Amino acid sequence: MMSRLMNWIDKRLPVSNSLKLHVTQYPAPKNFNFWYLMGSLALVVLVNQIVTGIWLTMNYDTSATGAFASIEYIMRDVEYGWLLRYMHSTGASFFFIVVYLHMFRGLMYGSYQKPRELLWVFGMLIFLVLMAEAFMGYMLPWGQMSFWGAQVIISLFGAIPYVGDALTTWIRGDYVISGATLNRFFALHVIALPLVLVILVFLHIIALHEVGSNNPDGVDTKKPKGTVPDEEKAPFEFHERYTNKYDIVDSVPFHPYYTVKDIVGLAGFLILFALVLFFEPTMGGQFLESPNFEAADPMRTPEHIAPVWYFTPFYAILAAVPNAVLGVVMMFLAIVVLFLVPWLDRSTVRSVRYRSGFHKANLALLVVSFVILGFVGALPPTEFWTVVGRIFTFTYFAFFVLLFIYSKNEKTKPVPERVTK
Ligand code: HEM
Repeated sequence: MMSRLMNWIDKRLPVSNSLKLHVTQYPAPKNFNFWYLMGSLALVVLVNQIVTGIWLTMNYDTSATGAFASIEYIMRDVEYGWLLRYMHSTGASFFFIVVYLHMFRGLMYGSYQKPRELLWVFGMLIFLVLMAEAFMGYMLPWGQMSFWGAQVIISLFGAIPYVGDALTTWIRGDYVISGATLNRFFALHVIALPLVLVILVFLHIIALHEVGSNNPDGVDTKKPKGTVPDEEKAPFEFHERYTNKYDIVDSVPFHPYYTVKDIVGLAGFLILFALVLFFEPTMGGQFLESPNFEAADPMRTPEHIAPVWYFTPFYAILAAVPNAVLGVVMMFLAIVVLFLVPWLDRSTVRSVRYRSGFHKANLALLVVSFVILGFVGALPPTEFWTVVGRIFTFTYFAFFVLLFIYSKNEKTKPVPERVTK
C-alpha cells in the first residue's frame, strides 16, 4: 500500500529520488570530524527559531504601547510561554555560536576554495541576513536595550554623506524610533527575512551538493572518471548522477553513517542547550541584557549601550576608528572582506593541516583578534580599551592582507592523494 502510494507520488514529484540524492545516498567523505556537525545543528536551530517564533507571534502585541507588556504576559501567563520565549532567545545566541564555528571550519579546511566559492558566498549572505534578523528581533521586546540599541545602529546610517539623514528617516519610518519602526521591524523579522533565510539555506545546500563536501584533509574525493581502480571506488551504489561524472573514493552514504553521527552530536548539543535554557537563560546578561527587562523609555538612556555578544566584535571595530564615517565603513568592510576570502586566498592547498606554520599563526591571529574585539566591544569605552580595540582591529584586517600576500607562494606540506582517516 505504502510503496504503491510512494510510486504514485514519485511519478508526479521526484520525492524518493531527491531524498536519495540529497540525503540518504549523498556521498560524504569518510573523515568528517566534530566541525562537520555544525551545518546540521544550524539547520536544527533554524527550525527551532521558526517554530518558537510562530508561537510567540500568537501572543505578541506589535504596538509600541503593548509590546513590552505582551512579552511579560507571554513570560508569566501564557502556558509554557516562558519556555517558548527562552527557547527563542537562547536559540538566537546558539545560532551564532554554531554559525561562527561553522564559518571557522570553512576557514580552517579551505572549504571556500575552488569549486566552493559560491557556496561560501551563499553562506556569507546567510550570515548577513542572520545579523539583520537578530537585530530586528532584539527590538521587538521594546525594552531599554531594544530601543537604545536600535537608536545607535540606525543612526550609523546617518554617517553616510548626502543621503544619511533621509536614509535613517526611511529606515525608521518616522523622525524618531517609534511604533512605526517597531511595526516594520516586526514584519521583516517574522516573514521577510526568515523567508530569505530559508531560500538562501536551500541554495547553500544545493550548491554544496553540486560540488560535493570538502573534508578535514581538503583532498578531493571526486576523481576524474576512469582513474580509480574498481576495488578502490567507494563500495556502495550511488545515484547515477554522481557515478556518471566521477569516480568517488573515500566516501560513505550520508545515511546511516552521518545521520547516526549527527544524532549523537545533536544529543550533546541539546544537553548544552537545555542547561542554558533551564538554568541560565540570560547567560548572566549576555544572551538577554538586564536593561532589556525595563520598558523602553525614550527619555532615559541606559548607562552603557552595548549590542548582544555576537555583534560586539564588529561594534568594537566601529568604536576603534576615531572618525565616525570611517568607523562605519570599517565595520561594514570587516564583513565584506569575509565575502572575498575565496579570492584572497591564492593557495592551492586547502586544509590547514598541510599549510605553512605562518598560515596557522595567521589563522590563530584572526581568532584571537575576533575574540578580543568581542570582549572590547562589550565594555564601556575607556582610553585603555580603545587602544586595545585599535590594535586588534588592525590585526583582524591584517589577517586578510597577509593571506593575500603569502598564499600565492606559500611553502606547504605535501598533500596526500587520498584522505587520511
Ligand atoms: C543558517 C545558517 C547555515 C546553515 C543552516 C548551513 C548549513 C550547512 C550544511 C547543512 C552544510 C553541510 C554540513 C557541513 O559541512 O557542516 C554546510 C556546509 C557549508 N557551509 Fe553552511 N550553513 C549556514 C551558514 C553558513 C555560513 C554563514 C557560512 C560561511 C560564510 C557557511 C559556509 C559553508 C561551507 C563553506 C560549507 C562546506 C563545508 C565543507 O564541505 O567543508 N555556511 N552548511
